[in-house]
Amino acid sequence: MDYQNILTEVDGGIQTITINRPDKLNALNRQTIQEIGAAMRAAESNPAVQVIILTGSGSKAFVAGADISEFSSYTQEQGMDLAQKGHDVFNSIEQLGKPVIAAVNGFALGGGCELAMACHIRVASDNAKFGQPEVKLGLIPGYGGTQRLVHLIGKTKATELLMTADMIGSEEALQLGLVNHVVSQDQLMSKCREIAEKIIKQAPLAIASIIRCVNASHGPDGFSKEVNEFGKCFITEDFKEGAGAFLEKRAPSFKGK
Ligand code: COA
Repeated sequence: MDYQNILTEVDGGIQTITINRPDKLNALNRQTIQEIGAAMRAAESNPAVQVIILTGSGSKAFVAGADISEFSSYTQEQGMDLAQKGHDVFNSIEQLGKPVIAAVNGFALGGGCELAMACHIRVASDNAKFGQPEVKLGLIPGYGGTQRLVHLIGKTKATELLMTADMIGSEEALQLGLVNHVVSQDQLMSKCREIAEKIIKQAPLAIASIIRCVNASHGPDGFSKEVNEFGKCFITEDFKEGAGAFLEKRAPSFKGK
């Protein structure tokens, strides 16, 4: 597929998806959201890809939010449609069968913060800023922000950030548990690749099971999900390879089968 607003590249099992509207601080218009969704689906079904890194182009912004110019005259129905389509794509990222690492290279505001939160791991550069400023526009987050921010950092601080529109820096995001690591701008992609390479060494089907179990942790059936997923691991070739390699004191070679 030809993309207009994103760049894609595969190297060593890692798919990098770069949101590429730097003049608009990578703001998410409808087309960009659809392209991100399509690129994620393509990465999931591409056997050459094991981990995805999502980032923004330029040194200033990951994503500065949904594209405000696109929805300034929307009706209630159009607003709901916009949110639903965003949810469909962001949920599909969270539920992808392969890990997605957000390389947050600058502003992650509104839909940008929500997009980073839909990823499985977040690494921020030291200039990154996070926030949900929708209330300044008379809106609320519409791409899952009222839910994922609470899940990730807890109701106490999430409610404050959602109500004040405060922007926080990457060190505070780290303290709150919103991001996994903070590094300098020039180390951002190498840190993400370092994490990706550790994951690539593990059994792919077990990684997909981890994603499903972690996603189930907010519902009522997280523990039973773990029981089922744990059981399913035993019938994989990867488990036989992993356990066999351990007993034979050699490195495993996983096939994702
Ligand atoms: N939607 C549409 N366009 C956006 C945008 C957004 N969310 N965020 C930035 N842009 C555009 C600006 O309109 C500007 O375009 P122009 O050069 O054609 O006028 C360009 O990106 C650069 O942004 P600018 O505001 O000039 O940069 P800045 O460094 O002065 O400020 C921000 C950076 C992030 C603080 C500021 O752009 C901002 O507040 N953006 C909106 C954040 C937001 O409310 N997001 C939630 C949306 S629901």
